[in-house]
Amino acid sequence: MQIENKWNLSSMTAFVTRSRVWRSIFRHGWPDNPLDRSLVMTSHIFFHLHPVKVSRKSLRAGYSLGLGVLSLLAFVSLTITGMLLMFYYTPAVEHAYGDIVQLQTETPFGQLLRNMHRWGAHLMVILVVLHLARVFYTGAYKPPRQFNWVIGVFLLLLTFGASFTGYLLPWDQLAYWAITVGTSVAGYAPIGGDIARQFLLGGTEIGQPALTRFYALHVFFIPLGIALLTSVHLWRVRKDGGLAVQDAEREKERKG
Ligand code: HEM
Repeated sequence: MQIENKWNLSSMTAFVTRSRVWRSIFRHGWPDNPLDRSLVMTSHIFFHLHPVKVSRKSLRAGYSLGLGVLSLLAFVSLTITGMLLMFYYTPAVEHAYGDIVQLQTETPFGQLLRNMHRWGAHLMVILVVLHLARVFYTGAYKPPRQFNWVIGVFLLLLTFGASFTGYLLPWDQLAYWAITVGTSVAGYAPIGGDIARQFLLGGTEIGQPALTRFYALHVFFIPLGIALLTSVHLWRVRKDGGLAVQDAEREKERKG
């Protein structure tokens, strides 16, 4: 005698999706209607950053080139590789250079880790500058997004700051002389130049106080600033109604 198998795929799916555990995690049905689609967006930790409705134009890869998102990914990757580098690096003038040489020659995947961080930093600078150029080219700096443009300018300065402070940390000849030139240039600023130079160096010349300050700025203050400002930046994109390209369409819809 053959027992009839009542459990086919659709009845199993229905059973799972009606279970209490499933409904406690997903608060909506399968997104095949406008209401469930909206609920998917608003109840998801990442999707809720997106407006519920976005225009086709703003999703076109050729419009934003994804440069803002790519800048963010570069920052996340730099944070992860930077945290791993902290296991091998001591910010002391007697150890810094040797630590980097040891990391490159003796630590498994050390060279890869260092290069991922170094090239990632160059890439982030390029991406952020290109993102700024894209925003300017598409006129997305105009009201109501002028505040976000200003936040962006601070993000650009922090990105440059992260690169500059990271440059000293290997404590090799290139780093030493690059920072000598960089901090001397800062000293020539007509207002507050000397104060800025003293603040960065913790004295009048490059030594342990400068290394300590550059390290603290590089691994804590600047990344924290970038993380906080990026949160405000993304929140502002959302509050300003998504990307600027949608404004014209929304205006047309409003006028009927
Ligand atoms: C750490 C650096 C930055 C990150 C992570 C970042 C991230 C983002 C993201 C994810 C978006 C939305 C999607 C996109 O346009 O690709 C965006 C939009 C925007 N960003 Fe940035 N950004 C950064 C730097 C800047 C800079 C330097 C500026 C300009 C000075 C800027 C101005 C803007 C503006 C005005 C928008 C709205 C664009 C529109 O409506 O079309 N951002 N940003």
